[in-house]
Amino acid sequence: MSCQRYSRLVLSGAAAMRTVTHQQVRRNCNNCNKRGLSLVSCARQQVTIKESPVSGAARSPALKGITPSASHLVASLPDQEGLNVKFGDGSASQMPYVWLRDNCQCSKCYNPVALGRSFLLEDLDVNVHATKVQESEDGVEIEWSDGHSSQFTAEWLYDRAFTTSARAQQRNRYALSREPWGVEHKPAEFDYQTLMEDEKVLLDWLLTMETKGSALVKNTPNRDVAGPDLINNISFVKQSHYGPHSPVINRENTNNVAFTNVKLGMHNDLAQYEQMAGIIFIQCVMQHQGKGGESVISDGLLAAECLRRDHPEAFQVLTTTDAYFWDKGHANFPWEMESFFKISKRPIITLNNDNEVVCVAMNNGVRQSYLDLPSHKVKKFYAALKLFNDILYDNAIRFKMEAGDMMTLDNIRCLHGREGYEDFSPRHIESSYLDWDEARCRRRRLQEKLELFV
Ligand code: OGA
Ligand code: ZN
Ligand code: ZN
Repeated sequence: MSCQRYSRLVLSGAAAMRTVTHQQVRRNCNNCNKRGLSLVSCARQQVTIKESPVSGAARSPALKGITPSASHLVASLPDQEGLNVKFGDGSASQMPYVWLRDNCQCSKCYNPVALGRSFLLEDLDVNVHATKVQESEDGVEIEWSDGHSSQFTAEWLYDRAFTTSARAQQRNRYALSREPWGVEHKPAEFDYQTLMEDEKVLLDWLLTMETKGSALVKNTPNRDVAGPDLINNISFVKQSHYGPHSPVINRENTNNVAFTNVKLGMHNDLAQYEQMAGIIFIQCVMQHQGKGGESVISDGLLAAECLRRDHPEAFQVLTTTDAYFWDKGHANFPWEMESFFKISKRPIITLNNDNEVVCVAMNNGVRQSYLDLPSHKVKKFYAALKLFNDILYDNAIRFKMEAGDMMTLDNIRCLHGREGYEDFSPRHIESSYLDWDEARCRRRRLQEKLELFV
């Protein structure tokens, strides 16, 4: 039986007994408020004892053996600032009035087709409070000081509780927690055609990319647009001024040092974009035969956490000092932008409001010579940058891709480099990009389709 159905069953049995749940809640009047609460408590006790959703002993015979649903609403006690809701799993949360009013689910306040709020901030009173709270068959009904009324189901409230676990679950729906890796790491392997045809495998790749930030796709067809084809099977390509895909070959009249045969240090692609590409697809169409052309990859998350732990001063420098990245040039191919001139400004390591590392941006090829720093801070910046680079290399893994291999990397977390190779080589790599918004969107949609979304 689904949680929802069970909670309905319990609640409908209880509803008949609920004759005294009617409450008047007056703000700024403690006596009234207390009276309101004690009335509620009496009614609640009556209902709770008979309904006994949490006590196996007193449960009615018909419900024996059935676990009460976690979201079942056991109590909803109003206080000055909100409703204190207790749920079937023993958890409790205050649901602030201002938040409840803002999230009224009636069709005037919330468009059930567009799944979006029509209620405007200009109509929200931050001091709004309940004048009446009444438990309904499957939740609560509230009358508001602004004259409006709302209904909320227990399940809806449970899902949005301000508890640690409900908030953690919501965070996970946003983004999965990442698992740092080092020299022992073996990127998971996926078959190209299976990724194109089997959604379960595609979901596995999406989950791997979110948690590990790296994977290897095998048996990629020998086409320069095999990367974009796979990306289009996920959502759509993130273009850059290099177009939907870039042939990484030793080019004449090149427009980026990556398109030569030199060694590329550890870097993220497109650091010159304010909105860096989320996931990169680096396909080996033809590898250099002989020495050189090897790949090296490292987890920027692990390296940043090592830096934070072992060199807090350098960590402080790299998280608070902005660098410029730039890219200026002209098209080499018809699908590239005719001429381009990009500049981004960002720290090497970006933290979010929880002090978590959310982006790493290194790229010697496009790091600009301008520095928006007083001169006495410059040497410290370089020292920190070099230290971070050393940690990245100390924890890196190396391999040489073969034709048909395509490495996929979280480009705002993991870094990659390439060994130099001989000038005459017909080596051919293709790179293409996908944004994290689209990758996570596909992950959630697949989880829903496969009934794995929690
Ligand atoms: C690049 C790059 C990898 C390679 O073009 O940015 O990292 O192996 N290429 O050539
Ligand atoms: Zn409403
Ligand atoms: Zn690169």
